[in-house]
Amino acid sequence: MFESKSGILLIAGLGFFLFSVLSNALVPVLLYKNLPEKTVEELADNQNLIYQFEDLSQRYPEQFEKYYGEPDQKNLAAALRLGRDLYVGEGCWHCHSQNVRPVSNESTRWGKVASSDEYQNELNRPVMWGTRRVGPDLSREGGRRGNDWQAVHLFNPQSLSPGSPMPKYEWFFDDKNPSMPNKRGIAVITYIQWLGSWLEEYPYYEDYKPLEDQMLNPLE
Ligand code: HEC
Repeated sequence: MFESKSGILLIAGLGFFLFSVLSNALVPVLLYKNLPEKTVEELADNQNLIYQFEDLSQRYPEQFEKYYGEPDQKNLAAALRLGRDLYVGEGCWHCHSQNVRPVSNESTRWGKVASSDEYQNELNRPVMWGTRRVGPDLSREGGRRGNDWQAVHLFNPQSLSPGSPMPKYEWFFDDKNPSMPNKRGIAVITYIQWLGSWLEEYPYYEDYKPLEDQMLNPLE
């Protein structure tokens, strides 16, 4: 049978098709049978991220008040949803991946290798793995830079990273001013700070201090 044409067709056609259904559909379904998909509200219930959202409300008080009001968890969830929609709509995923692979020592550069349960949530429908890396992987970007850095970088990437091919996103700001992120700007920055907020290694919260204290003791 294995030497005949029909045998080859059977194994190559049907056999591998069945194998891929098994490995790509059935195994994941069974793996996550008992791990419910997290909603955005559940994702927003995270101290690292709440810290960042409050920081945004203190850094850009007028803009924040105008577009979001209070830095509560309901508004945080709304910002996350809009941030994800903008990430999709603006094509950030054309240039950025969200998946640290277990090859090429990627974890040395970006941190923990991705595990599949990290994608078991509403903001990953569809998953934002991306297809190529013109810029760096962003799945561990949260907390790596401050909100003001992210704002200036979105407004004019080349001012912080000379020669960067990343486009300017001036429409994330009012009055063409990097200190005035609008609803979209605040949403995208919140989404960026969310990336990796579920990991223990999230860098920011360890040194958590209310912003007023940071300003009183800037050198501490
Ligand atoms: C044309 C490709 C391209 C697009 C589109 C793009 N980026 Fe980038 N991005 C880059 C490159 C290249 C870098 C590295 C150089 C730099 O810092 O500007 C980068 C850097 C970054 C960084 C800093 C990473 C770090 O910590 O060093 C963030 C955050 C980021 N991009 C977010 C975004 C977001 C959000 C969008 C969509 C609104 C976006 N990028 C769209 C290419 C792109």
